[in-house]
Amino acid sequence: MTVLYEPWPATAAELAALLGQAGHAVRTVADLVELTALLAADPAEPLVVFGPGAAPADAVTFAAEQRMRRPGTGVVLLSADAGAGLLREALRAGIREVADPGDPQAVLEACGRSLEVSRQLAAAPPYGPHGPHSPPGTHGGPYGAQPAPDARPPGRIVTVLATKGGCGKTTVATNLAVTLADGGRRRVLLVDLDVEFGDVAIALQLTPERGLADAIAMADRLDETGLRSLLTPYRPGLDTLLAPVRPTEGEQIGGPLVGEVLRLARDMFDYVVVDTPPHFSDPALAALDVTDHFLVLAAPDVLTLKNTRIALETLDLLGHLADRRIVTLNRSGSPVGLTPQDVERVLRVPPHAHIPSSADVPISLNRGVPLAAADPAHAVSRAIADLAARHLDAAPAGPPRRERGRRGLLRRVRG
Ligand SMILES: Nc1ncnc2c1ncn2[C@@H]1O[C@H](COP(=O)(O)OP(=O)(O)OP(=O)(O)O)[C@@H](O)[C@H]1O
Ligand SMILES: [Mg+2]
Repeated sequence: MTVLYEPWPATAAELAALLGQAGHAVRTVADLVELTALLAADPAEPLVVFGPGAAPADAVTFAAEQRMRRPGTGVVLLSADAGAGLLREALRAGIREVADPGDPQAVLEACGRSLEVSRQLAAAPPYGPHGPHSPPGTHGGPYGAQPAPDARPPGRIVTVLATKGGCGKTTVATNLAVTLADGGRRRVLLVDLDVEFGDVAIALQLTPERGLADAIAMADRLDETGLRSLLTPYRPGLDTLLAPVRPTEGEQIGGPLVGEVLRLARDMFDYVVVDTPPHFSDPALAALDVTDHFLVLAAPDVLTLKNTRIALETLDLLGHLADRRIVTLNRSGSPVGLTPQDVERVLRVPPHAHIPSSADVPISLNRGVPLAAADPAHAVSRAIADLAARHLDAAPAGPPRRERGRRGLLRRVRG
C-alpha cells in the first residue's frame, strides 16, 4: 500500500487519483499522528509520499526515523521548490526521491523507483538489522566474535583520523572494515568513537540497541563476554561497537574506558577499525595510545590539507611514529585545481594512498550499504582494498565478488 500524507484535501484528492490510476492502493492521511498510527498498525508499508502541503522538515524527521526502524519503507517528498539545502537534508535523512508535484510523470516515476528499491531490499541478503544468518561452521552470536583460537596473535588497531569534519572518516572506516573482514575470512570490529555525533549506525543502517555507552557500567572489569554483549553484528566477520544515541551519554565516555575496550578488543579480533570525531577528543587520544596504524585522511582542498598537516604534527608531538602512518588522500582526482605536487607541498609528505572521488559514495551512504559491500569492483572499493593489502597486510583471499548493484536512491526529478 502507498500512504499519502497531505493535509490539504483538494491536493490530497488530486494526488490520490493520480497514484490510484497508476495502480497504487492509496491510503490518504491528513496529519502525522494518523500517519504514525497507520504505520504502527502495518509496519510493512513500502511507500510513504509526503505531499506538497506537508512541512518538508516533517518528511526529513520521519525519514531519518524510518531508515533505522523500517529500512524497507521508502519516503518520497513532493516539493516544487526544493533547494540545495533541503536536498542535502533529504539525502542525509534517507529520503529516496524528491519530485515536483506539478509534474505527474515525475511523481509516478519517483514512486515507482522507490517501490523497486523496497522490493530489492526485501530480496537482499539478510545482513545487519534484517536478521543475521550465522555463516557456516559458526554457532550464532555476533558475526566476528566467535571464541578466539588459543595463541592467536593480537589484532591490530587501525584508527581513522582527520582534524577537519567531513573528510570521509566514517566513509573510509566503514568501507575499510568491510574490506578487512573479507566476507568473514577475518574477524573485524568497527568502533565508533565519535561519541557525540557518531554516524556509523546510520552509515550501516544499524539500530543501536546497545553500544559503547553500556560499557560505562562495566568500567575496570570489562571482559570478553561483557564486550560481546555490547556488539551489533553487521555482516559475516564484521561486528560494530556503536556510539551512544544521545550526545550527553557520550560525555561520560572517558579515555581510560576507551583504552580498556580497545585493548580487550585487540585480543578478540584480527583488526579493530576506529572511527573518530574531527578533533582530538579524550576518547580519540586514548585510541591513539593503543593504535598500531594511524590512517590520517586528507582531502584535496588547501584548508583540509593544512589541517591534515597539523594533525600529522600533533602525532609527532604525541610521539606516535611516522612509520605507522598511512596518509590517505580522499576524493583524489577531484577537479579542484590542485596538482599532486601542491598536495605534497602543503602536507610535506606524499600521500601513501589515494581514494577517488565518486558520486556513488554519498549514494551508498544514503542506502546504508558501503560500496565495499555492494560493489567490491568499484574504483573506491578497489582503492580501499589496495590500501588494506599494501599497508595493513590484508590482501583479499580471492578475487573480489561482485554483488548485485543497485541504482542510486536520491535523485532530483525535474519538471
Ligand atoms: N571519495 C569520496 N567521493 C565522494 N564523496 C565522498 C567521498 N568520501 C566521502 N564522501 C562524502 O563526504 C561526506 C562526508 O563523509 P563522512 O561522513 O564519511 O566524513 P566524516 O569525516 O566522517 O565527517 P564527520 O567529521 O562529520 O564525522 C559524505 O556525504 C560522503 O558521502
Ligand atoms: Mg564521521
